[in-house]
Amino acid sequence: MELVHTHDGTSVLIRQIRPDDAGRLRATHAGLSAETQYRRFLGAKPELSLADARYLTEINGSDHFALVATPLEQPERIVAVGRFVRDGRGSDSAECAIVVADAFQRRGLGTLLLERLAVAASERGIRRFRWLTLADNAPALRLAGRVFGERHRQRLLGRELELELELPAPGVAQAALR
Ligand SMILES: CC(C)(COP(=O)(O)OP(=O)(O)OC[C@H]1O[C@@H](n2cnc3c(N)ncnc32)[C@H](O)[C@@H]1OP(=O)(O)O)[C@@H](O)C(=O)NCCC(=O)NCCS
Repeated sequence: MELVHTHDGTSVLIRQIRPDDAGRLRATHAGLSAETQYRRFLGAKPELSLADARYLTEINGSDHFALVATPLEQPERIVAVGRFVRDGRGSDSAECAIVVADAFQRRGLGTLLLERLAVAASERGIRRFRWLTLADNAPALRLAGRVFGERHRQRLLGRELELELELPAPGVAQAALR
């Protein structure tokens, strides 16, 4: 659990996701704008099913790892989620995804989450993130550039871009980012 502050000074806790977050996650998803849902899931997704929510919260913390952000004053409200899922057993690459609730975007939360995800992944033997995003998703591309600088490559796959983000070695991860 870590206390951080958004650009506008809101205090937010970042912690690992838990199985009992399933209901909160569904509520957060339902409250996202259609565009934010679309950008996160690369297609229309008005709601998370119970099965989706279980898949996204009942995770082992090693091959599938996720962080949530909750305002200090509203601990029941998840306002951002970042996760990675390893590309198969023993692989040193993982797919990552991030979503920040509309009202909390552009306050630095995406940056805070991506930095922490990168450190957690590096500690778990992951060397590369694959990040699939719509090719016109400017906020996601800026976020990747902001956190990974030169250490990212892009491949256009139709209307999507696959970003390959190179993670620093464990131990130096936090210091090496940005
Ligand atoms: C992408 C996303 C996670 C960024 O989160 P965020 O908390 O707004 O990001 P930050 O506040 O840390 O900003 C990171 C960078 O993006 C830029 N940015 C954020 N929102 C932006 C917007 N709407 N338009 C243009 N740039 C934007 C910021 O200015 C910043 O760039 P800078 O460092 O050059 O100033 C958020 O927009 C989101 O949840 N989008 C929908 C889901 C999604 O697209 N996920 C990615 C695919 S899985």
